[in-house]
Formats: sequence, C-alpha cells, structure tokens
Amino acid sequence: MPESEPPTVDTPPLHDSLLGDHVDIARKVASGGYKWTDRAPEWIPAFVAEHDLGPFPAMRDRLREVVDLGGFGYHSTIDHMVEAFCGWSARRHGWAPDPALTVPNTSVIQGVWSCVEAFTEPTGAVILTPPIYFPFNTISKSTGRRTVDWSLIRDDEGWHYDLDGLADLLADDPGIQMLLLCHPHNPTGRVLTTDQLTRIVELASEHDVVIVSDEIHADFTYPGATHVPLATVPGAASCTVTVTSGIKTFAMGGLRASVASFGDEGMLVRYRRIPEYLLGSPNRLGCEAAIIGWEEGDTWVDQLVALFDHHRHHLASRLADELPDVRMHVPQSTFLAWLDLSALGPGDRPGRWLRDRTGLDCKDGPLFGPGGEGHARLTFGTSTALLDEMIDRLVAGIGTSSGSSP
Ligand SMILES: Cc1ncc(COP(=O)(O)O)c(C=O)c1O
Repeated sequence: MPESEPPTVDTPPLHDSLLGDHVDIARKVASGGYKWTDRAPEWIPAFVAEHDLGPFPAMRDRLREVVDLGGFGYHSTIDHMVEAFCGWSARRHGWAPDPALTVPNTSVIQGVWSCVEAFTEPTGAVILTPPIYFPFNTISKSTGRRTVDWSLIRDDEGWHYDLDGLADLLADDPGIQMLLLCHPHNPTGRVLTTDQLTRIVELASEHDVVIVSDEIHADFTYPGATHVPLATVPGAASCTVTVTSGIKTFAMGGLRASVASFGDEGMLVRYRRIPEYLLGSPNRLGCEAAIIGWEEGDTWVDQLVALFDHHRHHLASRLADELPDVRMHVPQSTFLAWLDLSALGPGDRPGRWLRDRTGLDCKDGPLFGPGGEGHARLTFGTSTALLDEMIDRLVAGIGTSSGSSP
C-alpha cells in the first residue's frame, strides 16, 4: 500500500551562510573532475549524482597538510575512519554501528558486489527495486546471479514500494537470497518508513534473505521525511549489511573510501568468505577526507541540506509553472530529480533527447530499468544560479512557446 506523501511545505528560504552557493565553472573544469571535463561549458552537466558545492573547506585544508608533509606511505588511519563513520551515523541518524562489525572498503559498489559474492550462490537470485541506480542492473551480467525486479509503482502522489508485491515475489521464488535496497532510493528519492522497513525485515527473515542496504544518500533527507537506518529496525541485525560512504555528502567520489557495516558477528563471518586482500583498502587521502567530514562536517552539511531542500521545491515549482508537460514528484531525499518527459515523446534516449534540445546533460532513464522509460535524471545539487540556468534552458528548449517540442 502506498505510504502518504510528506505534507506540502513552503519553499524554505535560501541559507545565507552556506559557503559559496556559487559554482565556478572554469575552476571545476580545471579541477579535472569527470562531471565537468567532457561537458562544460557547452553543456551543463547534471547527469552524475555528484553535487557541486564541495569540497568542505576543512577537508581541503587537511588534505593540503597531508600533501605538504608528503604523507603518502602506508598508513594507519583506517580504524579512525571507521570510528568517525560510527560517530557520524550515531549523531546524524540515531544508529551507532559497532566499529568491530564495520569493514572499510574503497567504494559502495564494491561493498554491494562483494556482498553478492559472499551471500548468494551462483544459482541464487537478487531482488532489485527498479527504476534503480543503473549499475545495479548489471549484477546479473557481471556475477551470473539472476535478478528479480520488485518494481516501484507510481501513482499521482509519486513512486511507492509495494510490500504485498515483495511478499508474493519471495513466496513464489525460493531461489531469492538477497534483497538489494537503495535506501533512500536513487533515482526517485523515496524514503522507506519504519513500518515498511519492519515488514521488509519480517519477510527477509521468514525467507532467509540477506538485505544489503545502500544508504549512501541518507544525509540528504529533507523535512517531512526521516531516514531510518535499516540496521535500527528490530530483527534486522541477523540479516542486514549497510553499505555507505561520505562521497555523496562531501562530493569526494574520487577519493574512494567507504564502509560496509554488518548487523552481527554471524553476518561478518559469512562475508569473510571473500578474501580480505581481494577487497583492497581505502587510501590515506580518502580516509583523511572522510574523517574530517564525519567528525567536523555537521554544520556545513546542515547548510547544504537546507540549500538542496530549497532547490527541490524551487525546481518542482518552476517546472509546474513553466513546463507542466514535464512531470516531477518532489523527492523526499537525494539531490536528484526524476523527470517524466513522456508527454513530450522523448524516444528511447530521453537524456540525449533533452540534451540535444537544451544543452542540459541528464542521465537517460531507460538505463535505470523498468519505470525508466520516458524519464531523465537531473542532479539539482548545484548553486541556485546554475539550477535556474538549467531550468531556463529547459523552458527555452522544450517549452511549447519555443516551438521545438514534438
Ligand atoms: C545509490 C548509489 N550507490 C552507490 C553509488 C556509488 O558509490 P561508489 O562510487 O562509492 O561505488 C552511487 C553513486 O551515484 C549511488 O547513487
């Protein structure tokens, strides 16, 4: 049954104190980040789930210090990073993971894939929740596991999980060994409630299914919704792995440092069937960056979340007023907007279709699997000025007054 939408809230005011609600495009291009080098300045890049307001200033200072000292040898900062994560999670989300059950790795995707290898047999199946963060749709191809779609459903209020549908899938398919949650959900921004999580845990326990919960977007959960870490749900410990990192929050995707936290010792023992050395370990700069972010980033992140809270409403309200053919539900979380362009006939590459008409580069919806048809994903994690320029381009390029929409 669909959960209710958060109450409509007035667009929050801009946060004056955010350090630099401004994006210096020349500097972004010069910095060499993948988001900017291929695309700017001709196209505005909104295709990748990376925000433009980083880095957190204290992070830059700390990394500069380490670089100046030439601190590039083997290092022992990993345990500190794990402690910093556990502290952040307790302060921000009310979940205090056990550092002894928290394993560092280099990326969240690595955490997901290693869990697939550790917790499923080659003949087993993994449940996905499409439309879904597109790399998950390659699990079958790269691991040989079957994937089973537990598709989100959409109504006038937005995208929803269908808990009865999950019960049916699990009852019908004894080969299912894992449920991969994206919590909060990329690309729809949907947040699972405590009641829903409780039901999911009940079903997983009943069918002996491991839940891997990718909580990388949790920090960007907005007023009206609350991120409930799956691991806090009663009964979850014996079937849950949480994979996450600070890369979305602090825009440090190139630094490669993340964690996988296990609900109990038994889960960690099962995971250890993956040889530790095969997993590698995070590098010094990634650890230093994560530590400073997780230990000192609270105020900065509060301001960032307030800014993106403003952006999600601003984007939705401008689209409703100026481009009503583009349908968007205000996301409860993430800095991603899942735009339904189907009324405009965007073909099978909606992102490309949009880019050709507007110069705004969004991600093609069909990559996200069922539910992605006719959609494109837009990243609104940028400055307000750049967001307005994106919307201006959309209106000029595909608005009916432009005469260019088919
Ligand atoms: C849901 C989700 N998981 C994982 C990742 C990637 O994490 P990493 O680069 O650490 O593998 C992303 C990035 O967009 C994401 O949105």
